[in-house]
Amino acid sequence: MSLEKYSLKLPKAVFSGTDSMDNIPEILKQNGVKKVAAFTDKGIRTLGLFDLVEEQLKKAELPYDIYDDFPPEPSYQAVQKVIDQFKGKGYDFIVACGGGSVMDTAKLASILVTDEYGVKELLDDPKRAKKCVPILTIPTTAGTGAECTPNAIVGVPEKEVKIGIVNDNMMSDYVILDARLIKNLPRKIAASTGVDAMCHCIECFTSNKSNPFSDTFALRGFDIIMNNIEKACDDPTALTEKNNMQIAAFYGGVAITASGTTAVHALSYPLGGKYHVAHGVSNAMLLIPVMNMNAEDPAFRAKLAAAWDVAYHGEERLATVDEKAKALIDWMDRIVKHLEIPTDLKEFGVKPEDLDWLVEAGLQQQRLLVNNMKQVTADDARKIYQQVM
Ligand SMILES: NC(=O)c1ccc[n+]([C@@H]2O[C@H](COP(=O)([O-])OP(=O)(O)OC[C@H]3O[C@@H](n4cnc5c(N)ncnc54)[C@H](O)[C@@H]3O)[C@@H](O)[C@H]2O)c1
Ligand SMILES: [Zn+2]
Repeated sequence: MSLEKYSLKLPKAVFSGTDSMDNIPEILKQNGVKKVAAFTDKGIRTLGLFDLVEEQLKKAELPYDIYDDFPPEPSYQAVQKVIDQFKGKGYDFIVACGGGSVMDTAKLASILVTDEYGVKELLDDPKRAKKCVPILTIPTTAGTGAECTPNAIVGVPEKEVKIGIVNDNMMSDYVILDARLIKNLPRKIAASTGVDAMCHCIECFTSNKSNPFSDTFALRGFDIIMNNIEKACDDPTALTEKNNMQIAAFYGGVAITASGTTAVHALSYPLGGKYHVAHGVSNAMLLIPVMNMNAEDPAFRAKLAAAWDVAYHGEERLATVDEKAKALIDWMDRIVKHLEIPTDLKEFGVKPEDLDWLVEAGLQQQRLLVNNMKQVTADDARKIYQQVM
């Protein structure tokens, strides 16, 4: 065990399983709540998923307002617009029910009940904001793990990138993992958000910041995802596998909080920022090229072999680190292909002449690139993007 310092920040309480939503009135009571702000999105409301939350808010007999008027993967301006509507209304609790886009927006609101600064200022100085309103997050994708990370990702249109704002005060106070919410997740969304969670686990495990706390969650999450993702996406009745994915996505979030993602997420941000490729899709595209680049390093291959030993439960017996590392990359590749996630940036309007911009924008994501075991050069980034163009 390393004697270096490391830490783990977690929500105060996490509720999972059947009827976990029933805890909402008690959470509100314990916190002496008087007025609730509920964040969700129009898609989730149309599907009736938000009704499950609303039922509980009604049981609690508290006044609440609903904020659902912002796009998926919002820009910082779109987030600020919602926060401006929400500020000054005297809410003393936030309930966020949605995917990463909803949870990140609500998490920013929870630290921005002030006129002194807004989301724009946090892009330059993320630590200045303090916790203003406690928050309960309820993910509807499995997923970003945003329910238990201190991060919020926003688009910055003038720079055509996405930027992660990290502030410990954004850690959720409470989390509810209710599998009913992801039961009818369309296959396309289940696939890309599930591979996002897979990336969180394998990136955090191979990150320069990995440590015994993050490894515990990253490896267990990875094991669950590798063995459940296909059935969870393919079979609408596979409730056990879907429930497993939701828990594993949460573990991925814990791993991000204790460690950090690496080059897959770093190089993915410009694809979301400029071409609006969904977060999970851009990660899925870059996962295998980045794994192959990193696998040039024997220390990285040793990590992959360790992940293989944990996740693979089949009959095949592989003897060497190199065999296991290769087998693991091939397995991840088969999963991404099986899930039919787009693999070509041309579909998103990316042209060959955009390559220089992509390389430059990707390399600016040093917050995450410093976590990558291999130092990523401009040449490396170029080769990776070229493989998906
Ligand atoms: N804060 C973090 O730690 C963190 C980590 C990873 C990603 N992110 C961010 O999260 C965002 C992506 O979040 P996401 O992948 O969860 O997707 P999302 O929140 O953007 O949702 C994508 C679409 O799926 C729909 N949807 C959500 N749940 C559904 C359900 N149960 N059934 C049917 N449709 C549903 C939404 O309405 C939306 O149209 C990105 O902005 C990404 O950068 C944040
Ligand atoms: Zn992610």
